[in-house]
Amino acid sequence: MSQASEKSVIISGVGSYTPSKILTNDDLSKIVETSDEWIRTRTGIRERRIAGENETTSDMASAAASEAIKNAGLKPSDIELIIVGTVTPDMRFPNTACFIQRKLGIGKVPAFDVEAACSGFLYTVEIARSLMLTSGYKHALVIGAEKLSKITNWEDRTTCVLFGDGAGAVVLSLVDEPRVGILQSLMGADGNESDILCVPENEQSGTAAVEKIERALHKIHMQGNQVFKIAVRVMCQSAVDILEKANISAEDISLVIPHQANNRIIEALSQRLGIGMDRFKINLDRYGNTSAASIPIALDEAYRNGRIKSGDTILMVAFGGGLTWAAMVIKWQ
Ligand SMILES: CC(C)(COP(=O)(O)OP(=O)(O)OC[C@H]1O[C@@H](n2cnc3c(N)ncnc32)[C@H](O)[C@@H]1OP(=O)(O)O)[C@@H](O)C(=O)NCCC(=O)NCCS
Repeated sequence: MSQASEKSVIISGVGSYTPSKILTNDDLSKIVETSDEWIRTRTGIRERRIAGENETTSDMASAAASEAIKNAGLKPSDIELIIVGTVTPDMRFPNTACFIQRKLGIGKVPAFDVEAACSGFLYTVEIARSLMLTSGYKHALVIGAEKLSKITNWEDRTTCVLFGDGAGAVVLSLVDEPRVGILQSLMGADGNESDILCVPENEQSGTAAVEKIERALHKIHMQGNQVFKIAVRVMCQSAVDILEKANISAEDISLVIPHQANNRIIEALSQRLGIGMDRFKINLDRYGNTSAASIPIALDEAYRNGRIKSGDTILMVAFGGGLTWAAMVIKWQ
């Protein structure tokens, strides 16, 4: 990332949307053999939101985006670029960004999706930032949105307790000021570990449709233990690397907004960085893991609860299927 630019990209608006239907741990214990106590102690999750049957990823994303555009003091017609991080697009194609463009009445601007699982939002912000600095787009709409309930195997207690639905959005704006907004960013991936967290459906192209359904190949498959270990290692390393790259010490970080997957992963990150949990934004107890939506939902909540002030330095770190990871340091305007 160039440090020489006289321009910066800032977050000028935030918004989020979560469906009204709440699924508690007790509700889940009626569907699979589990308990509130097990889920809470292993993950920190108490409940998650589930989208309505006909509520799509682009519906949730449009609601979040509409809030973000309003919060930025802009109109849909001001948006010059739309990028959506999601693994649960409304359709295989067209992309979800195009549906959002239509729903919000945004002009005929570039619109596309990025698939980087739970790292999807940070990947998407970095792609938008780079395009803004090189091509001059003034305002970009960047969204993380997921309807994970449609790819969750509701018969598998090892995964179905973890995930939820929702959307978070930001408006990014190009400003004539150096070293504000997004200060530093990193992204990485390791395809060697792609099998431990995936929806394997397409890989088994020779498999009959009925067998795909029987083996739930169209749903999330995960080796939880393996994912957990790598998540801790990669989240910690990404955070350490980005602070070093940005030449910022852990004490200078006002708030950490981590991907909301598991409280124990976040506690490990807190210990590794020497940043107390009081400086972490956590809402996974109420939403579970919403993949690409998790960081922008948490960001919006932190902003609306007054936990983010002008001048604050914020660290965001994510990890997800792929395996992918990403981190970002932001100076809030
Ligand atoms: C999924 C996760 C919570 C499981 O916790 P864990 O401590 O690793 O638990 P294990 O997988 O070792 O399972 C321990 C036992 O609990 C059982 N178990 C699994 N899910 C359960 C549930 N929902 N309720 C009750 N028991 C459960 C297992 O069957 C196992 O029983 P056994 O010892 O009789 O075989 C944990 O591995 C995790 O969070 N991994 C990361 C997942 C993640 O974040 N994915 C998204 C990344 S973006």
